[in-house]
Amino acid sequence: MQPATLYSPDVEDIAPDEEQTIVGLMEVLSDIMQTTSVDYGHAVRAVHAKSHGILEAELDIFPDLPTELSQGLFASPGRHSAILRISTNPGDILADSISVPRGLALKVLDVKGERLSGAEGRTQDLVFVNGPTFSAPDARTFLKSLKLLAKTTDRAEWAKKALSAVLRGTETGLEAVGGESATLKTLGGAPNVHPLGETYYTQTAFRYGAHIAKLSLAPVSETLTRHTGQIVKTRNRPDALRDEVAVAAQAGPLEWELRAQLCRDPVAMPVEDPMVPWDEEKSPYIPVARLRADPQTGWSAARARIVDETLRFSVWTGLEAHRPLGSVNRARRATYVMSSAFRAHFNGCPIHEPQHVTLP
Ligand code: HEM
Repeated sequence: MQPATLYSPDVEDIAPDEEQTIVGLMEVLSDIMQTTSVDYGHAVRAVHAKSHGILEAELDIFPDLPTELSQGLFASPGRHSAILRISTNPGDILADSISVPRGLALKVLDVKGERLSGAEGRTQDLVFVNGPTFSAPDARTFLKSLKLLAKTTDRAEWAKKALSAVLRGTETGLEAVGGESATLKTLGGAPNVHPLGETYYTQTAFRYGAHIAKLSLAPVSETLTRHTGQIVKTRNRPDALRDEVAVAAQAGPLEWELRAQLCRDPVAMPVEDPMVPWDEEKSPYIPVARLRADPQTGWSAARARIVDETLRFSVWTGLEAHRPLGSVNRARRATYVMSSAFRAHFNGCPIHEPQHVTLP
């Protein structure tokens, strides 16, 4: 196996019009939020608005990791409290019959080390979705598809159901001929799978101390893997995913492995383009920590009031040793701040980085 690529600031390549793209992204996201907040009388996240699982957990960082993996947060073995939020990606609260990608956001508490500039508190956020690659090569292209998605936000829900059904059909058709469209999945054609059986990926690259890596969170306990590939029945069950996650979380315990895939070739494993999968034969995902959630309430309105309303999960909340890299990640810095500031202001509910987990 090739040695892990060394991180240096020049692994990033900033497009001359990137600032303009970010302004464009802020405009679209702010449009989405203005519309949905008036609709609900309440502000929700510009994307990943609906939560389906809210869990407290413990992250155990493995001892005796090889030096290239013993970096940043993972250089100090031990236990951290953590909070998980499982979501789906639209910017409004839809019935679960609309089949869309799943997200999982993890907030690791009481983390030591130099912080990214502007990162409050002592937490490290890690943000994942259930696919290994992003739907666009860069922020500029992402802005184009977001404009398309924005047109469907706050249209009558039936229209989205129809769109989703059409896209699901199209996606199945594409798979039958051997293709798969990330764009279609983003817009509502993903299989309606159980969120707890899925493997989640950061999709984008991060600094990993002296190196560069993508991360994944894979289900390992039988209480999770039994749901892998399970299609959730959503007929007449608008909140089917919350119910399913709650049943599994109450039975528990749930255990995932946090894994790191080191960049070992900056050309074949690019930092700037998250549409390019990094070859797992050349660099496999290797376990660096274990996440465990003991039996508990999987989702409740009271938990959502705390985690949906008073928290933000952003890749820019964390350590310099895990600096988000590449165009898409750079574009997330101001947009996550904007979305969460809008929520805080509209709802009159300030957002803080927590020091303890106290979920009801
Ligand atoms: C330019 C690209 C992106 C933009 C503009 C963007 C924007 C946003 C915004 C505005 C939020 C809501 C923030 C809040 O109000 O707290 C959010 C949440 C989220 N994003 Fe992104 N995002 C981008 C890329 C990605 C990527 C590559 C992933 C893949 C892991 C991702 C996964 C998520 C997830 C899972 C959440 C929900 C976090 C939570 O539970 O609070 N996003 N994104």
